[in-house]
Amino acid sequence: MCGIFGCITMNGNASPIIHASLKRLEYRGYDSVGIATINNGEVAIKKDQGKIDEVHELINLDDMQGNVGIGHTRWATHGAPLKENAHPHVDCTGQIVVVHNGIIENYTELKTELENQNHKFVSKTDTEVIPHLIEETLKKNPTSNVTEAVVETIKRLSGSYALAVISSKEPNKIICARSESPLVIGIGEDATYCASDLTAFLPMTNKAVMINDGELVTLTPNNVEIRRIQDGAEVTRAPTTISWTPEMAVKQGYPHFMIKEIHEQPGILRNTLRAQEHYLDLLSTFLDRATEVFFVACGTSYHACLAASYMFSKLAFLPTYPVYASEFVEQHGKSVNIDSTILAVSQSGETADTLGAVTCSQQRAATILGLTNTVGSTLTRVSRVYIGQQSGPEIGVAATKTFTSQLSVLAQLALKLSTKRGKVSQDEMDYLADRLEALPETVQEIILKQEENVKKLAHKYKDAKIFFFLGRGINTATAYEGRLKLMEIAYVPAIAFPAGESKHGPISLIEPGFPVVFICPRDGQTHKTLVGNIQEMKARGASIISIIEEGDEEIKSMSDDYIEVPKGIPEVLSPIPFVIPLQLLAYYMAVEKGLNPDTPRNLAKSVTVK
Ligand code: AGP
Repeated sequence: MCGIFGCITMNGNASPIIHASLKRLEYRGYDSVGIATINNGEVAIKKDQGKIDEVHELINLDDMQGNVGIGHTRWATHGAPLKENAHPHVDCTGQIVVVHNGIIENYTELKTELENQNHKFVSKTDTEVIPHLIEETLKKNPTSNVTEAVVETIKRLSGSYALAVISSKEPNKIICARSESPLVIGIGEDATYCASDLTAFLPMTNKAVMINDGELVTLTPNNVEIRRIQDGAEVTRAPTTISWTPEMAVKQGYPHFMIKEIHEQPGILRNTLRAQEHYLDLLSTFLDRATEVFFVACGTSYHACLAASYMFSKLAFLPTYPVYASEFVEQHGKSVNIDSTILAVSQSGETADTLGAVTCSQQRAATILGLTNTVGSTLTRVSRVYIGQQSGPEIGVAATKTFTSQLSVLAQLALKLSTKRGKVSQDEMDYLADRLEALPETVQEIILKQEENVKKLAHKYKDAKIFFFLGRGINTATAYEGRLKLMEIAYVPAIAFPAGESKHGPISLIEPGFPVVFICPRDGQTHKTLVGNIQEMKARGASIISIIEEGDEEIKSMSDDYIEVPKGIPEVLSPIPFVIPLQLLAYYMAVEKGLNPDTPRNLAKSVTVK
């Protein structure tokens, strides 16, 4: 997956706008970058491997002339992250220029066909077949215009794409189209934009038009025309006014997006409690009628689903089956059916594995429900009903506010269903609803009181070669999430298990000084057995790091280090506050190691390839 951006202005050069906008898309991929513009009928291209700032330093991305241009920031899928594989890519004449996000699955046969027609390729990418196909189409149909040639080309492609095309043959327009990969249009006062994600053009305009699969868009400086590729029918779609201010997508003085987003969580949790009634009602009605319910997601979103399965069981007596999206088709592809309900959870709403599981389920007539942060994403379009996680742009590659906001929405959904089913007493419901309302303040207090302690912890254990994360019950999910955070941004190997599993093998790893993080809420039935697990580890010389409620003297006395969270957190909501110290631990461990938590190696924010 990558980030594409295009802009056509009424006056003024496009390249500085494109460069700045690509910076806001960098979380989508950052191993190479390029910009193309058209000036006085001539195409100019600057591109290279490396992060955007590095490439700009080398070749200055702002000094290109021309009011129309497209740009691209890449996360390599086909072809190594080298200059020749960086986008934009051109045809043989150099007059047709393309940037693309996605995978063209039939590119090898297309490339062979084109090479047999004497087209010369310079890259190993799948994308490069697109400009050459457009060129070949124009050769065969000299009376066609570029837009018609793009339409014909797209009909030859199979796979996923969000692409933008400019050409010196028709310099005053940008042609873009999508299938599976995200594409959104921005409408400014004196320019129009196309982008993989609306945060790219937010500083210029908050008027956005979401583009659907199979649609082609022609941009001119003051007009946007949307047509269905299949039959050319014009599509009319009013712009959405985006409430995210540009500042929300900028670091606001924090050193990294990740720490900004960790600190945003109290406010985000307040957001998740607002204006959700209608959708909670709708979704809980579907779940109430469901015969079998699968939660399908990847990474952090999967951990939220795992925690949610405890919530729905304990509160609504609804059995749910959390499944890794990448395994769903293998595991349930043949059994999912019209009586199945799939709740797909995805911050980006574009994760290919999650969408693949959804497509498989849809083909077998299952009901698709969605929980996502990205309005206009593919998941929102394929879901019968969806609900927003309302967490604003999450730019850091590591999901943080995603986990807590998804859990808040899922907890509300479980409570809503519990009310419908009358499975829990009104007092219990009122108590939980009250504690959910109080969570933003609880999280605020943890950040305020414990951030410095966690920073010290990160410094103390910065040379640890491996970490264990252990929890019981719903906090098994919290342990998995803590492990993922530490691995993905501090590159520390970490292991996570239900604490009860340790004695079935993993405990053999324990050596003196081996840091073991325990997640120990007071509420619920797990505290007592956790004490036993801590003692097992302690007896073998492990360094015990406990996340405990204030005043838990029993576990405090057994711990080498501890981080306290406020009292009175119901176990069924505990992953939300208890994960905060683990997010901070991962962040400060990365900082201790001199790493950039926002752009961890080998990762990208939205994995739109399988
Ligand atoms: C989490 O920190 C990772 N960045 C990754 O596991 C992520 O949660 C996963 O790729 C799912 O993304 P989604 O929620 O956008 O589908």
